[in-house]
Amino acid sequence: MPSYRPPKIATSEITPQQVYLRRREFLGAATLGAMALYSAGKASAAALSVIESKYTVDEKTTPLKDVTSYNNFYEFGLDKGDPAALSGDFKPLPWTIKVDGMVNKPGTFDVEALMKEFPIESRTYRMRCVEAWSMVIPWDGFPLASLLDKVEPLGSAKYVAFETVVRPEEMPGQKGIFQSLDWPYLEGLRLDEARHPLTLLAVGLYGETLPNQNGAPIRLVVPWKYGFKGIKSIVRITLTDREPKNTWQVTNPQEYGFYANVNPEVDHPRWSQATERRIGESGFFGAGRHPTLPFNGYADEVASLYSGMDLKANF
Ligand code: MTE
Repeated sequence: MPSYRPPKIATSEITPQQVYLRRREFLGAATLGAMALYSAGKASAAALSVIESKYTVDEKTTPLKDVTSYNNFYEFGLDKGDPAALSGDFKPLPWTIKVDGMVNKPGTFDVEALMKEFPIESRTYRMRCVEAWSMVIPWDGFPLASLLDKVEPLGSAKYVAFETVVRPEEMPGQKGIFQSLDWPYLEGLRLDEARHPLTLLAVGLYGETLPNQNGAPIRLVVPWKYGFKGIKSIVRITLTDREPKNTWQVTNPQEYGFYANVNPEVDHPRWSQATERRIGESGFFGAGRHPTLPFNGYADEVASLYSGMDLKANF
């Protein structure tokens, strides 16, 4: 996010209803493991067996085409189209996640085994990028709390740190002149944020496994925080008693903090956070602009986590 660039996306070609029908088709007819080819990116996607959940929002979902072609994934380049265009060589399977640090039962877990162990829920969340664009995305995944329960955090653990894979041979943004950040990409949450029922480890979207550009095979989704907290292609999760470093805070501490709760009252030093541009809804005279909501619309669920805190100082 070196600077804000206005979205270049064209009006969607796929209506949400068509996408919805397509998903039903997939879930009804396809057997688990059936393969399909994504038009955006060259990754192959498998249909997931998902259960509906109570988590949804009363807003139009962003078309699949936009969710998979307008991305931030600096390991594949800086432009919004780079992750879809340049992630074709990335191999998301097989994949393991190491969970270590202040836990009773550390371990290295196979992601496909976790996807069988924990029911995969469909959850439609708002997603608000710190760059002032937004989407509404139907994720598929399981609560991070399920994985944390499995490893039994110690009473002394206060935070959870996350790390993305480093594979310069498959991620062109991690090598040579294209390097933009220090790798690995890092993120962190307080343990109570990590355990919150809204906090999801996503393994799919729109009923299919995650495309490479969206963080295959497993990424974090914390819907009340700016999108950069949603670290992709996670290989390590560490329980700790110290506030973890996160990549954007390390890169530019004046502009990005640890908490990164969506807050329309705290502007980015270079732009307002009061409104957001909904990707896929472009039009004349500012159509597609929405007011940004405190905690991205999830205040009822999460505001109590921050009672007594100065949210301007802890941005
Ligand atoms: N994770 C990694 N490893 N690398 C990244 O560059 N970008 C973040 C986040 N996770 C990023 C990342 C940012 S800035 C955003 S807004 C979201 O991913 C974008 O997710 P999406 O492309 O699936 O919409």
